Amino acid sequence: MVRLVEDFDSLITSCKNAFENRADFLVGRTQVCGSPRGICVIITSACNLKCVMCHHANVPDWKSVDMDIEVIKKLESYLRRADFVEINGVGEPLGSLPFMNFLEILSSGDHGFNFVTNGTLLDEKKTQVLLASATSAGLLNVSISLDAATKETYYKIRGANFNRVVENIRNFVDERNRQTRKTPKVWINMTLSVTNLSEAEEFVKLGHDLGVDGVRFQKLNTTEDRLKWETTRGDWVFNYSEQCLENIPNNIVAQVINRVKVRAGELGIPVYFDELKDLGEIGIESLVRLKKKH
Ligand SMILES: C[S@@+](CC[C@H](N)C(=O)[O-])C[C@H]1O[C@@H](n2cnc3c(N)ncnc32)[C@H](O)[C@@H]1O
Ligand code: SF4
Repeated sequence: MVRLVEDFDSLITSCKNAFENRADFLVGRTQVCGSPRGICVIITSACNLKCVMCHHANVPDWKSVDMDIEVIKKLESYLRRADFVEINGVGEPLGSLPFMNFLEILSSGDHGFNFVTNGTLLDEKKTQVLLASATSAGLLNVSISLDAATKETYYKIRGANFNRVVENIRNFVDERNRQTRKTPKVWINMTLSVTNLSEAEEFVKLGHDLGVDGVRFQKLNTTEDRLKWETTRGDWVFNYSEQCLENIPNNIVAQVINRVKVRAGELGIPVYFDELKDLGEIGIESLVRLKKKH
């Protein structure tokens, strides 16, 4: 009953924020009256990995810094009024000192909280803190980036220990279920490239075997600066523009997506394709654009 009342309260807040935002937009206010529906916070730009498609492996003078705790405290009144809060950006939240402070500050609000992690630091202690924060800080979704269904491809892309991170995910899901919690929902992510496309179907099976709540696919971001990136892992060269799915004929990508959907249907696991729903941008035009840029 209490939960029902809380849900009703947060529904009202959510409608209120949506309504106010819409009104600000329609009236053309440059100084808005409404509260934000969502706030995305980049809590750190530091990371313990150097994935081949990321700034950490490609930008030599990349600045790794954590958000100042005093700045996080100043965000409190804004965070409290938002419907949902997300941590995102080019860094690893679970490796950053301010992450725990952030969870504490979130506990003063009444919103949903989501974040993305590489999962390598998701040990027993962090598992307990995160599961408790489902109640205290409204943690709804944890997305864990793997980008591979095999240890070989995982090492190529992420340069870390696949078996360890898979165990971390398994333990996290098992512990959540043991505590009979419905949240946080757990997702695994694959950022698709030429190298891992052939593992997409197996990735769905992996998600099912781990007991996660769903699997997400996205494609490499094709903003211009990244297309020139080239990095090596051992004797393997990752050439960014050659790794973009735009290099693969549309019908081949479509076949893979179809197989993934069929497999997901058979296994009964939700699967999402960010920007890939109907092959989105992937088409001959974007291939021409990509080649021109390079
Ligand atoms: C930048 S990471 C930050 C969070 C955390 N460190 C992680 O790896 O999940 C967030 C997501 O961006 C994805 N990503 C990294 N580089 C990308 C790129 N060049 N294009 C598209 N997605 C990328 C990662 O695979 C990951 O799922
Ligand atoms: S773990 Fe995330 S932030 Fe770190 S290098 Fe990989 S993609 Fe980038």
